[in-house]
Amino acid sequence: MEHLPDDNSRYKDVDYWDERYLTEKSFEWFGDFSKFQHIFENLVKKKDAILVLGCGNSAMSVDMHRAGYHSICNIDYSSVCIDTMSTRHADCPGMSWLHMDARQLSFPDGSFDVVLEKGTLDAMLVEEKDPWEVSSDAACLIHRVLSEVSRVLKPGGRFLSITFAQPHFRKRLYARRCFGWSVHHHTYGEGFHYFLYVLTKGEELSPEDAGLEKRLLEEAEATPTQVTTQEEDTENFLENIIL
Ligand SMILES: C[S@@+](CC[C@H](N)C(=O)[O-])C[C@H]1O[C@@H](n2cnc3c(N)ncnc32)[C@H](O)[C@@H]1O
Repeated sequence: MEHLPDDNSRYKDVDYWDERYLTEKSFEWFGDFSKFQHIFENLVKKKDAILVLGCGNSAMSVDMHRAGYHSICNIDYSSVCIDTMSTRHADCPGMSWLHMDARQLSFPDGSFDVVLEKGTLDAMLVEEKDPWEVSSDAACLIHRVLSEVSRVLKPGGRFLSITFAQPHFRKRLYARRCFGWSVHHHTYGEGFHYFLYVLTKGEELSPEDAGLEKRLLEEAEATPTQVTTQEEDTENFLENIIL
């Protein structure tokens, strides 16, 4: 584990990723494309315009290209990552690599059929101690990224989010009417399970998810300041990521 940071908080730091991508050739978070391809192929058409958020040095986009998905735009806020990946995969027609921050996407509204992320939102949440009650900073950050994702999706488009976060934690962030999507999920992996969330733009939240949002909003109104913390989550982020 040559590239392990001294402190998990560094996963939120672009300098950490730049430094790591100077020497690391490839790393796959939550398993490679073959592990969830059977789910992906039922959700995504070969001609779909796909945006990959926080592509890193993963082989996922190239594997998708080999599987027949040829319209793939990859973004990452690490310039080292984008320089390396665009040079390495210059021979993939239809594939682009852009240096861009997921918090501020420079695409017009309704540009993509599919937005896909694997481990990028997890990296943004890595400092959170209590998955039931993420800090307001983290909630704002995720809200900002999800607003951008929703904005660049076409009507009927899908946000696919791959993570180790279980539905009772992740739905608290995703099930919001303001994003205009429904929330469903699949699982994959042997032993340790990962989750592939499917957020479909233009569909309503299920009654259960709408109820969750209502309850969380009521709780937030009743508790304007965060006064409780639960036991520190001692799980190591890295223990959850390698399939
Ligand atoms: C845990 S890695 C996942 C990499 C890759 N998706 C994979 O599956 O192996 C997180 C990636 O997200 C990128 N990232 C983190 N925050 C970002 C942001 N605000 N905008 C764009 N990329 C970001 C990091 O540079 C890093 O490449």
